Amino acid sequence: MIYVNESKMEFHLQNESISYIFHVMKNGQLGQLYYGKRISQKDSFASLIQVNSPTPNTAHPYLEDPAFSLETRLQEFPSYGTTDFRDPALELETENGATISNFVYSSFEIHKGKKKINGLPATYAADHEAETLEIRLWDRLLEAELKLTYTLFADLPVLTRSASITNHRLEALKLNRLMSLSFDLPTSDYEFLHLSGAWARERNLKKRKLEQGIQAISSVRGSSSHAQNPFAVLKKEETTEFSGEVIGFSLVYSSNFLAQVEVDHYGTTRFLLGIHPFQFSWELQKGDTFDTPEAIIVFSDHGLNGMSQVFHTLYREHLVRKTNTAKPVMINNWEATYFDFDEEKLFEIASASQQLGVELFVLDDGWFGKRNSDKTSLGDWFVNRDKFPQGLDTLAAKIQKLGMQFGLWFEPEMISKKSELMTEHPDWVIQTPDRTSSFGRNQFVLDFSKQEVVDYLYQKIDTIIKSTKLSYIKWDMNRNITEAYSNSLPVHRQGEFFHRYILGVYQLLERLTNAHPTILIETCAGGGGRFDSGMLYYSHQAWTSDNTDAIDRLSIQYGTSLLYPIETMGSHVSAVPNHQTYRTVPLSTRANTAFFGTFGYELDPLKLSEEDREIIKNQIKFFKKHRSLLHGGTFIRLMNPTTNQAAWMVRNGDGSAAIVGYYNILAGANPAQAKKLRIPSLNPNEAYKIVSFEPDGEVDEKHERLMGDELMNSGLALKLRFNGVNAEMAETAGDFHSEVYYLTSLLEE
Ligand code: DGJ
Repeated sequence: MIYVNESKMEFHLQNESISYIFHVMKNGQLGQLYYGKRISQKDSFASLIQVNSPTPNTAHPYLEDPAFSLETRLQEFPSYGTTDFRDPALELETENGATISNFVYSSFEIHKGKKKINGLPATYAADHEAETLEIRLWDRLLEAELKLTYTLFADLPVLTRSASITNHRLEALKLNRLMSLSFDLPTSDYEFLHLSGAWARERNLKKRKLEQGIQAISSVRGSSSHAQNPFAVLKKEETTEFSGEVIGFSLVYSSNFLAQVEVDHYGTTRFLLGIHPFQFSWELQKGDTFDTPEAIIVFSDHGLNGMSQVFHTLYREHLVRKTNTAKPVMINNWEATYFDFDEEKLFEIASASQQLGVELFVLDDGWFGKRNSDKTSLGDWFVNRDKFPQGLDTLAAKIQKLGMQFGLWFEPEMISKKSELMTEHPDWVIQTPDRTSSFGRNQFVLDFSKQEVVDYLYQKIDTIIKSTKLSYIKWDMNRNITEAYSNSLPVHRQGEFFHRYILGVYQLLERLTNAHPTILIETCAGGGGRFDSGMLYYSHQAWTSDNTDAIDRLSIQYGTSLLYPIETMGSHVSAVPNHQTYRTVPLSTRANTAFFGTFGYELDPLKLSEEDREIIKNQIKFFKKHRSLLHGGTFIRLMNPTTNQAAWMVRNGDGSAAIVGYYNILAGANPAQAKKLRIPSLNPNEAYKIVSFEPDGEVDEKHERLMGDELMNSGLALKLRFNGVNAEMAETAGDFHSEVYYLTSLLEE
């Protein structure tokens, strides 16, 4: 898979679908030659060098060779200031204030599989699943080594990259920037796609055209954030969901990041991805190494769906924590009770939901310390005896006796001003000396760069897991970090704070999951404020958004699916009117949206009508029947929710079964008759039985059987819409209507 042409100093990483080629340039630094669909290996790729003649007004390192300028070269890991004027991949500073570097090639090494990155989450692969190339470069003056690591997956169009720097000189070096990847492309005819939003409207898909200059998405909030996600796409203008070229970039990291595209004055594109250089620096003493997080690059010439499917497979098989069992249908008490509950009330909710078929009961915020509102007790991870006079273990045991699993909410990284922990350890709070500390949801953040903080929380959480025989943790994080500073770090190391903080979070997660390997973990940050690839390495799923409105969820889940598999998206059916939008959406549509996620409920089952309880029983039955298909199949986006209609589907491996969801957001008068939805990726020559899941929770089997080719090319006729109060043919009426179909090949019967 990895060719090395030592006479020409060319490296070609090639698998069945992609090629990635770079070489050592005449100055000893690395030049980028090609990335894209697989091309054949050959003796020399010199023909791929784009500029070989002098370009006016460029600076050049060699007097006798004006044609060689870094400004006109595509590079692998560029630095600024020696004839390249674009933003660089790295910057190191010496004690005299100089920031010029010159890393020249020194050696390479190839090994099977993939090594771990110290203290950081990353994709993993067995020896037969991937091959890794490590390139070492040396700066003679800095006496520093730069190591670039490339892993090519054997059966996926996936390349991962990371970098590390080691200081070998006596004096310290100051690292001001080390990106995980720099990626130069010869043209700029791309669109830049990213997932952006805010609290309760996370990860909506945005698109911009590339223009000369810099465009970027980033976070400097101490978490990946609601506002931007560490993920970006470069796609050709003509690329659709189903066809065309696309390159997807994802960073396996949960803190401050930068994803930046720069189009220069020659129309070439540089994409940088990694830890945000703003507020970052790292002191490297002799012998110290700094490792970047991992960046993932996916290529597809099958459109955005093609790219997403590669990411989903990669994440399922090589990143996200795995469960041995199916993910349970859960009920979470947050929107049912908020802080207002006691043991009796919770047990009633659990018992009623067990009757409906729910498998996991999750007790959200408010069970610890004196927590009766969001103003107190974070950090006091011992049970609230007013609410649980007999202790939490008793409630847990009672729920477990019902045959249900028991789960709990924690917010480990936080501390309330009013808490016992604050009295004992005020020095554990993140605060800048002599400055006032800002509040966020009335709370402060604990300094996770301190080992004693991580140790303390490990011990507290571990005790509760053991005493309650906990099956599930919801790990929340409800504010951004301000006044960032650690009193455990010396003055010149304050730039290390944010990265050290997240290393502390990762360490705690690593220790807890090692000690309790079967526990299901759902991360959360005020909804989807830290829904990222780093957290998913330690967890199974993430709470997608605090917005549980099924219509808003269409665009949130649609955007999230660009990168993340649907079984990682926490999705619940909640009460109406919805608590975030006050919208009333039919119960059927609330479930039809939540089916394409982890699936669960977030309401008080005791307040449901008898009729709704029966419908919910059927919803849970339907979900359980198709859970393995929904959580293990191939997800395909069909219609973008911005068009007033949304549709998506999941198919099984051989196309013999599929589940389709169709959503009509606002009703319109006099709609077209027999609107059809094309169902791709079926087997054209097989006949399919079509079953619809009706709003009353019943399954309707009375559909015409259709051939795969008809479903793919002509489509599945959707239900007739409401056509005025006097029309007899009205099958469905009103806004927010949805349909779910299950298709199976008759050959499977
Ligand atoms: C924010 C979460 O996103 C909610 O689901 C809930 O757990 C609250 N925090 C509890 O404080």
